[in-house]
Amino acid sequence: MRKVALITGASSGIGLALCNRLLEEDDELHLCLACRNLSKAEAVRDALLASHPSAEVTIVQMDVSSLRSVVQGAKEVKQKFQRLDYLYLNAGIMPNPQLNIKAFFFGIFSRNVIHMFSTAEGLLTQNDKVTADGFQEVFETNLFGHFILIRELEPLLCHSDNPSQLIWTSSRNAKKSNFSLEDIQHTKGQEPYSSSKYATDLLNVALNRNFNQKGLYSSVICPGVVMTNMTYGILPPFVWTLLLPVMWLLRFFANAFTMTPYNGAEALVWLFHQKPESLNPLTKYLSSTTGFGTNYVRSQKMDIDEDTAEKFYQTLLDLEKRVRITIEKSDHPS
Ligand SMILES: NC(=O)c1ccc[n+]([C@@H]2O[C@H](COP(=O)([O-])OP(=O)(O)OC[C@H]3O[C@@H](n4cnc5c(N)ncnc54)[C@H](OP(=O)(O)O)[C@@H]3O)[C@@H](O)[C@H]2O)c1
Repeated sequence: MRKVALITGASSGIGLALCNRLLEEDDELHLCLACRNLSKAEAVRDALLASHPSAEVTIVQMDVSSLRSVVQGAKEVKQKFQRLDYLYLNAGIMPNPQLNIKAFFFGIFSRNVIHMFSTAEGLLTQNDKVTADGFQEVFETNLFGHFILIRELEPLLCHSDNPSQLIWTSSRNAKKSNFSLEDIQHTKGQEPYSSSKYATDLLNVALNRNFNQKGLYSSVICPGVVMTNMTYGILPPFVWTLLLPVMWLLRFFANAFTMTPYNGAEALVWLFHQKPESLNPLTKYLSSTTGFGTNYVRSQKMDIDEDTAEKFYQTLLDLEKRVRITIEKSDHPS
């Protein structure tokens, strides 16, 4: 039977490269593209089928920053599939990024210069906004919408005799000090992206703790620094082009400059081939590229406290309960 992989954010960047690479690994795979923009998704499906005619590609419309859209999209997925082998939780945003010029100049003259360029730690702030659901947009898009998707798709994912994998596109930018259990949506700070990615790492640990026995395993990756619409929101493409020689040089000292979506998808593809039972839940898998352009995957132990992960998971379950009551009430007003 064909294996099925659902990918959120498949319409561009790393998600699109992942679709191509997965079909290069297994051209019998059935891909389900969960995208908010149908015309973009259709163009991607046509291109994928043109290069891999034996594959199957299905589209499901889903905006992960709208819980109604997630629930409706998940309903369609449940009508179309009996099980999912892989759920790639990849869609993500970094809205209105601002470069912290002071931190940048301070950083380039410090010993941490390579770490700063590889992780963008402390370099970027973002202006978040509130969605129609009443959540911070970065939190809902990068994390909570995906959490609800997993909860909706549990029946397709939990089979103890035949494990399924959740694979999150997190980031090296996930930083513990940007996350707080008292402010999980990061309403008070200026680095919602970093907070949402640290929250992703925490949730990953809690999901493993709560779902491994049911046959569901979760992993997180970082694609490295990749030229996509997201990075072009930080600096215009021509500035990145000017910086290319510097980044090629930096590759000899740090392996995070993967640069292309193809390279960035390395860890996502590597996980596709792993036995999930053999993976360490406290490890993040980093797409990496050497100075000579060779791709490989590096493991990094995450700075995660398992009790905090469990508390965060319980907070998300409470939030989910409240959201479902609100949706129910507005769908069936008495
Ligand atoms: N690029 C990097 O250097 C880098 C580094 C670390 C981590 N990442 C992570 O990599 C992932 C992919 O990002 P990318 O770099 O490939 O950027 P990208 O090209 O902007 O791709 C983002 C994808 O997410 C989708 N998306 C955004 N908001 C959505 C929503 N509300 N509902 C459904 N889909 C939505 C986009 O759809 P549309 O096409 O409709 O906009 C697009 O397909 C993200 O999680 C990002 O945080 C990227």
